[in-house]
Amino acid sequence: MNDKKKRLAVFCSGTGSNFKALFHAIIERALPAEIVLCLSNRSQCGAMDFAREYEIESLHLSETQFRTYDEFASAMLQALRERRIDLIMLAGYLRKIPDAVIAAYPEKIVNIHPSLLPQFGGHGMYGMRVHEAVIASGETRSGATVHFVNEEYDKGRIIKQNHVPVLPDDTPETLAERVLLCEHRLYPAALEKLLDEQP
Ligand code: GAR
Repeated sequence: MNDKKKRLAVFCSGTGSNFKALFHAIIERALPAEIVLCLSNRSQCGAMDFAREYEIESLHLSETQFRTYDEFASAMLQALRERRIDLIMLAGYLRKIPDAVIAAYPEKIVNIHPSLLPQFGGHGMYGMRVHEAVIASGETRSGATVHFVNEEYDKGRIIKQNHVPVLPDDTPETLAERVLLCEHRLYPAALEKLLDEQP
């Protein structure tokens, strides 16, 4: 394993339970990584509260703060460059990453998605909508996928997947709970794999 610590930015929009799972795993497993930034499109959310509590820099960055989308993308790039970010982990970040940022960080942006991609991914497929679609389809298996981010929603190379059963009496909510627990194991394991492989 590479000993030099990678500088991580975690992007969130909500509760941030995956962010918390990553944070704790880095400490408990002594992974060569440090979360130096929590970036969110929302000034107030569980993830930002957690960042403040643990004295991780929290940055509220939203398109609404800028005149144009290009200015927003430039500000995001600048924030990442200034902090010398090596890896960006999307943890429930429900906005598209600007193409300019994706181009600047090829195979350095990672996302976790609550289904077995390539199934139930793509534009508009996030959060509870994914679990509703899985149940409506009659699938007996679901799970979570960690993958690299490219210009197409949920289409980047898959890093790791884990599956869970879909039970006959599941509701989207009960399935979401089971998948989220699976995510909390999967995301740290995927980070560990990435850190092993990174130059
Ligand atoms: C997670 O289930 C994550 O997979 C999903 O949002 C939830 C965030 O939970 N992400 C997507 O749907 C992205 N397409 P968290 O804020 O508690 O980590």
